[in-house]
Order: sequence, then structure tokens, then C-alpha cells
Amino acid sequence: MFDYDAEMQFYRPHFQAACAVRAEDRVLDVGCGGGQTTRDAAADAARVLGVDLSERMLEHARRQPLPNVTYLLADAATYDFESFDLIISRFGVMFFEDLVGAFTNLRRALRPGGRLVALVWQPRADNEWARMIPEAIGGTFRDESPFALGSETVTREILTAAGFAGSSFTSVRERLYYGADAETAYDNVLRLREPQALLAELSPVAAEKAREALRATLAAHDTGNGVLFDSAAWIIRAE
Ligand SMILES: C[S@@+](CC[C@H](N)C(=O)[O-])C[C@H]1O[C@@H](n2cnc3c(N)ncnc32)[C@H](O)[C@@H]1O
Repeated sequence: MFDYDAEMQFYRPHFQAACAVRAEDRVLDVGCGGGQTTRDAAADAARVLGVDLSERMLEHARRQPLPNVTYLLADAATYDFESFDLIISRFGVMFFEDLVGAFTNLRRALRPGGRLVALVWQPRADNEWARMIPEAIGGTFRDESPFALGSETVTREILTAAGFAGSSFTSVRERLYYGADAETAYDNVLRLREPQALLAELSPVAAEKAREALRATLAAHDTGNGVLFDSAAWIIRAE
């Protein structure tokens, strides 16, 4: 499996600081994936519920159990949650089909005065990682859902329509880590669904050329301290 926690290592401290978890907080981690942010929150919180659609991701998360953490396999867009003081999400809230409906459901899961803190991608154009890899392969990734909350204006409207007040957006520009060296990064990228799909559409000769171009792009981003790409995200805070 692609090591998402390694990829996210430079975002981790930004997100932890933004969450500002308090000892009495009951926290919901939406789209918790392998659970790193769930565990980080649990280090300070009273208790944390990690929710994800993917049993495979939750299996991974459950490998590091903590007494104040539980995991739930559910669709956070529609699940009838109990009440929380804080909802957090690291790149887990952009994938809802009905964004207003899903955020309305999450707002209902907050006690009055509760907070939402979410990290989401800025538009694809501002994310080198999301441009360079498909460009190197010579195609376009079709899934735009990771960038669904990229526009501050549109996202503010979504949050307002969902009943959130006082949303604020803080821009974070950080490096994304793809692996210790270009070869490792190449193996990592080829494990991802979208590069695989693009390569599968090409003839064997074109696919080989695309692989070489991808290798060259990754080598060009090998800093000696890992293969790094620039990226841009929003930290959204809402009440
Ligand atoms: C990019 S991953 C981020 C995982 C995790 N937040 C992290 O930072 O390690 C997005 C996660 O959101 C989950 N997800 C997407 N839509 C969801 C939904 N409607 N309800 C619950 N989880 C969802 C996916 O299964 C995936 O694990």
C-alpha cells in the first residue's frame, strides 16, 4: 500500500496545530483512513471516533488500537452520529457527492459551539503533484473530486448552506513526500489507481515511453532528502 502517512509528513504538524484538541473533546475524524490523525487527536482528546467507508483502511487503523479510540465503517455523509465537540478531517471531506447534504449531516453531529477543522486541497492548478504526474504520463486524471473544495468562495457557500457559521480559510503550501529516492517513488506512484488507469489505456510502446517520462520527472524531484512535490491546501475552520 502507498504510504500515505509518509506522503503527509509535512502536513501533519500544521493539521495537529489547527485541530487544537482539548482534553475534554469528543472528536469525530471523518474519512479517517489508516487512522494517523485519529491517533494524534486521541493523544489529547477524551475520545475519538474514526469513520471511514473503506473496511481495508479501517483494518489498517485497527492495527494500532488505543483505549479512547473506536472505528466505524459508515458513510459520513448520511450516518446518524451522536454529538461531538470537534470534527476533524485530513483530506477526507472532498469526496461527498452531495456536499451540502453531507456537511449538513456533519453540522448536526456537532454540539452547539462545536468546531470543524478540515484540510482540503486547493485547485489542481495550484498542486504540482496533481499536474506533474499526469503530465509526465501524457494524460489527465479524470477524478476531480479531490479538488471539489478547492475554491474558497464555493466552499464557504457550501458551509453556509449547511448551517456552519464563521468559516475561515488558511492557505498552507507544503511538500508532499513520494519516497526516499526516484525508484521508490516510481514504485509508489505506479501503485496509485489513476496512473495505473492512464497507463493501461496506452499501447505497450507508448506506455513504456510514459514510464520513462515518469521516471525522469521523479528523478528531477529527487532532492537527496526524498522525492518531493509542491502542494497547496486549505485549513478550513468552521463553527
Ligand atoms: C485521502 S484519504 C485520507 C485518509 C485520512 N484522513 C488520512 O489523512 O490519513 C480519504 C479517505 O476518506 C474516506 N472517505 C471518502 N468518502 C467518505 C465518506 N463518505 N464517508 C467516510 N469516509 C469517506 C476514504 O475511504 C479514504 O479513506
